Amino acid sequence: MPKDGSGLSLDGLGLPLWLVVELTYKCPLKCPWCSNPVDFDQYRNELSTEQWKEVLRAGRRLGSLQLGFTGGEPMLRNDLEELVAEAESLGYYTNLITSGVGLNTERLRALKNAGLKQIQLSIQSNDRQHSEQLVGVDVLEHKIAIARAIKAEGFPMVLNVPISRFNIERTEALIDLAADLGVEYLEFANLQYYNWALVNRAELLPTREQLAKSEAAVNAARARLGKRLTIFFVVPDYYDDRPKACMNGWGSVHLTIAPDGTALPCQEARLIKGMDFPNVRDHDLGWIWHHSPAFNTFRGDSWMSEPCRNCSEKEKDFGGCRCQAFLFTGDASNTDPVCSKSPNRHLIDNLIARAEQRGEAESDSSKPLTMREIKRRVRSEA
Ligand code: FES
Repeated sequence: MPKDGSGLSLDGLGLPLWLVVELTYKCPLKCPWCSNPVDFDQYRNELSTEQWKEVLRAGRRLGSLQLGFTGGEPMLRNDLEELVAEAESLGYYTNLITSGVGLNTERLRALKNAGLKQIQLSIQSNDRQHSEQLVGVDVLEHKIAIARAIKAEGFPMVLNVPISRFNIERTEALIDLAADLGVEYLEFANLQYYNWALVNRAELLPTREQLAKSEAAVNAARARLGKRLTIFFVVPDYYDDRPKACMNGWGSVHLTIAPDGTALPCQEARLIKGMDFPNVRDHDLGWIWHHSPAFNTFRGDSWMSEPCRNCSEKEKDFGGCRCQAFLFTGDASNTDPVCSKSPNRHLIDNLIARAEQRGEAESDSSKPLTMREIKRRVRSEA
């Protein structure tokens, strides 16, 4: 098993196998769980086409293999096809993570010709009005039309459903929709509570019972549909007693480049205040990955304090998520409070208890959701 020099086993030989490029923070949708920074509009200095191409070349030199184009909404970049073609010439396996807004048959064909391998399309509801309530734009019919066009052009496709209290009761209906669309993969991604989702966490967090029902519906559909549709169900880690092995360990296999060229060990890392993340405009990507202080801060296990330091599971979960540790405790080097061994686990339990008290309504109309960019209320359908 490869080692990183400090005793921990690392997947991916310590190479940034998984490169994610956030081409822009701009997006026409207003999702109240958006993973972009809450102050995303302060980052306006997007990399140019040529700068992005150099990032792709440098990533391949470092050993990156899988490349995700995301944002914001990556379709808002007119050079996307050009960047995909560059990635294809470099030998990446490419996927596009999109809301579908800005996609049409012509651009799909251009992306296919450029070499794009897979598309992940997000969908939030099977009902037009409900979808509009959730994302702030009347977009469901377009998404469904685009899903069909993606299949018609022969792309493998993941339908991604960000799951919250507002749509978890629709699990079965969304499975039916995915089966009807003929997608290969359906991912129910329970929200991870960072940035905009964190702002709205009290409203968005489902109850344990809702999760159990949703997972049961997924299991029934798996039995019914077999290989026709592969369904992933990503549980919210708050309901677990061990933390997720976030990013397979900090600086282990994952590298994100933000729109302004900032290099991050995960898409959320900017929220850790006091850390200085390097920028590809100023530094060689190889130096950033191998030698920058930011990427080395939480590598290995020398940064760990108890209970992680002497924990028999530290090579499984690497102490959990650094961003979550920071958000809950103000210190990113603490054990992820999701872990039942953490002295801060009660902070998670308190949140869960509040979610249970709120009951199982699809939404609570007495509380507003803060939409990305603008503040407005999302009301219950009931
Ligand atoms: Fe940043 Fe987990 S999301 S380390």
